[in-house]
Amino acid sequence: MAPRALVTGSSGFVGGHVTRRLVADGFEVTGLDVAPPAGTFDPAVREVTLDIRDQQRVSTLVEELRPDVVFHIAAQASVAVSMREPRTDVETNALATLELALAAAAAGTRRFVFISTGGALHGEPPPDQLPANEETAVAPMSVYGASKAAAEIYLGVVSQQSGMEVSILRPSNIYGPGQNPHGEAGVIAIVARAMLQGEPVTLFGDGSQTRDYVYIDDTVEAVIRAAAGAPDVCDISTGIEISTGSIFETLARLTGYERPSNYADDRPGDIQRIALDPAKAARVWDWRPLVTFEDGVARTVDWFRDSLATEGQANS
Ligand SMILES: NC(=O)c1ccc[n+]([C@@H]2O[C@H](COP(=O)([O-])OP(=O)(O)OC[C@H]3O[C@@H](n4cnc5c(N)ncnc54)[C@H](O)[C@@H]3O)[C@@H](O)[C@H]2O)c1
Repeated sequence: MAPRALVTGSSGFVGGHVTRRLVADGFEVTGLDVAPPAGTFDPAVREVTLDIRDQQRVSTLVEELRPDVVFHIAAQASVAVSMREPRTDVETNALATLELALAAAAAGTRRFVFISTGGALHGEPPPDQLPANEETAVAPMSVYGASKAAAEIYLGVVSQQSGMEVSILRPSNIYGPGQNPHGEAGVIAIVARAMLQGEPVTLFGDGSQTRDYVYIDDTVEAVIRAAAGAPDVCDISTGIEISTGSIFETLARLTGYERPSNYADDRPGDIQRIALDPAKAARVWDWRPLVTFEDGVARTVDWFRDSLATEGQANS
């Protein structure tokens, strides 16, 4: 019998990619998201439109479904929103994660795979040594980072009490085709789309802020390996710091954009520098990032170019 998977956040960027991969791998997939699936509807997936914070209905669904594996990807995924709406963030990212895990454990789920965060677990000043790793002290400077850290700890409690295995991925900044370019997170998607449309581009900070960018296909592979390998906690990243200024230059070159960038003040909760060491994921899950930044960004720009052309045709 095909293993049953529940994927939360299945309409989102990462959740959509993971859902497609699980279907291809032979899982029987149920997707849960507060938003309907974007793009083409896959008849192989049972889509349930539900707010993860609706504990009653989520528990009933999990009880009925009895998933072998839960991929918990849904989240309030923006640092900026977490600072403006802390209650929404805590309820979505911490409380709902705990309640989902309790429901899964009660339903006999074998493995719970949680997408936490890498960069947002660290704060200012940046860790003494970059890239940071799983041993680096967790010291978030945003409500988002704190909620993810709390969720990780709650999962440890549920695992200890129930025996349900838990794998936690701590991705750095994920990018690639399908990322929402209209949100407040995902600088590559936002800037790529703006440049392709010839719109002004505003960067937060002075361009020197750094992040560690991991490509979506590599991230999906990590999710699959985290489900099958030892239950553990691993950074999913490249270990390489890339500045916002150099993202602007790379994207400008690939899109032929000639306007200068505008700069705005740093946003509260945003850290100045971060990169995460992927060595533990290599050891534990035999996972390595394979797509280089240049290649990943080029693929992403191609995808946004195609999707804008399709939108243009649909509107004409
Ligand atoms: N994109 C990144 O750079 C990055 C980095 C580290 C960790 N993460 C984590 O990866 C996961 C996926 O992020 P993403 O980039 O795909 O974001 P996304 O916003 O594209 O996807 C999140 C999905 O969760 C859904 N969701 C939000 N609130 C919900 C609720 N109350 N009930 C049900 N569904 C809800 C949204 O509708 C959306 O489809 C998140 O847990 C995020 O915190 C993302």
